[in-house]
Amino acid sequence: DMPSVEEIRALRTSHIAEYPDFPVPGVLFRDITPLLRDHAALRAVIRHWISLLPGDIEYVVGTEARGFVLGAPLAYELGAGFIPVRKAGKLPGTPASVSYDLEYGSAVVEIAEGSLPAGARTLVIDDLLATGGTAAATVELVRQFDVDLVGASFLIELEGLGGRDKLPDIPLSVVWSFPN
Ligand code: PRP
Ligand code: MG
Repeated sequence: DMPSVEEIRALRTSHIAEYPDFPVPGVLFRDITPLLRDHAALRAVIRHWISLLPGDIEYVVGTEARGFVLGAPLAYELGAGFIPVRKAGKLPGTPASVSYDLEYGSAVVEIAEGSLPAGARTLVIDDLLATGGTAAATVELVRQFDVDLVGASFLIELEGLGGRDKLPDIPLSVVWSFPN
């Protein structure tokens, strides 16, 4: 019961809400909550997304906060483990940290020590690839474990922002692309 290409295309319009000038003037915010609250729609999107991914994924890494919401059902459906990358200051022990640039200022993401075994077939996911800063920082954290990084995958890519260029040499897949 795979969803059709037409069904997935229609969901892009019907289940992603658009808010102009949020959070700052000139930015068109794309809101995934209409998708999250519709079980049948989310299930169709997760199943379609999985069809785009490489096989034999052992771990899915998702970044707080929206990468958790989509990463957990993806991992569960794949039969993979889910590994959280968190914003700074949330993890106990001695996590690894990477800072990355935002439009204004910078942020820090962290991963718990011992999160991934060396060589594990690992996929990085997030809801959105925009400038690529978040994804590149997540990849940098994951690579510290010497895993087999089999890809990075996103529900939405904003093509005009150059995020892809920050992830060279990683197979990328996206469910939906928007120009910006
Ligand atoms: C958003 C989005 C991606 C990131 C993409 O996260 O969920 O993680 O921005 O932008 P980039 O490619 O320019 O880095 P954000 O930290 O704003 O919020 P969240 O905690 O709701 O995921
Ligand atoms: Mg995010």
